[in-house]
Amino acid sequence: MKYLSCAATALILGAGLAAPALADTAGCDDGEMVIKFSHVTNTDKHPKGIAANLFMERVNAEMDGTACMEVYPNSTLYNDDQVLEAMLQGDVQFAAPSLSKFETFTKVFRIFDLPFMFKNMDAVEAFQQSDAGQGMKNSMARRGLQGMDFWHNGLKQFSANVPLIKPEDAAGLKFRIMSSKVLEAQFKALDANPQVLPFSEVYSALQQRVVDAAENPLSNFYTKKFNEVQTDLTLSNHGYLGYMVITGKLFWKKLSDDQRALITQAMKEATEYGNKLAEDMDVRYLNEIKAAGTTTIHELTPEQRQA
Ligand code: LMR
Repeated sequence: MKYLSCAATALILGAGLAAPALADTAGCDDGEMVIKFSHVTNTDKHPKGIAANLFMERVNAEMDGTACMEVYPNSTLYNDDQVLEAMLQGDVQFAAPSLSKFETFTKVFRIFDLPFMFKNMDAVEAFQQSDAGQGMKNSMARRGLQGMDFWHNGLKQFSANVPLIKPEDAAGLKFRIMSSKVLEAQFKALDANPQVLPFSEVYSALQQRVVDAAENPLSNFYTKKFNEVQTDLTLSNHGYLGYMVITGKLFWKKLSDDQRALITQAMKEATEYGNKLAEDMDVRYLNEIKAAGTTTIHELTPEQRQA
């Protein structure tokens, strides 16, 4: 693994050389197998970004000299609608799209998009650890993809530039959604207008009023600065957003038993750490959004939530 100093990076950028896709990596040595991990969120303040970096650090410590992982955050390598096809082509080896993004590969994750399906994160965790949940990791095997682990983000909240308190408040609004049929149906049931957009385009779509509203867990809302472009946030906890870390079956099969064991152990450590962090960050980012003073936060009464 090579070490490229910040000064060297500044020199490359200062010299106006074509900027490569930015990876969180120390650089790989010749002869090392390069393992690319692509995702779409922030890298150092987001549970997925931090878990991916920890996974990379553990793999690079244990496999130095033979393999080297590079993490590409913030959609710098692929958007979620491109990454699974790229994985099948062998161009990327790991990704962690949200469970809503697997629609064309499997329908089993649709359960996670159902509104009010899970009472809280403990209920999500219990289901994911059950035989039924663990079995979902193999649901895309015949399509060439292998699920590794569930990573948490958190429960979703609604945001807009008007208060969303009653179901009728959403009628007629354009909501950005992930590419999921269940989410499409959810907003149609509210007489709202769902619009599929990649995560990387959400901020500008909200800013330019291409869409009026969105649903996000607090870490996505805060780390992508959506609070700058949404005046109202409703603590609805109405749905779950989490991830499946995924790899290509062909890539996985090519590895030796030892390599698979090292990667599996590194993944386990990253999963445990990241999932605990997701819980803490949810609380922390609610406080940060309050402190930013940009957005009115609405809590629902039990009756409003029931409606
Ligand atoms: C989204 O598109 O809103 C999410 O999938 C982004 C993410 O990875 O949390």
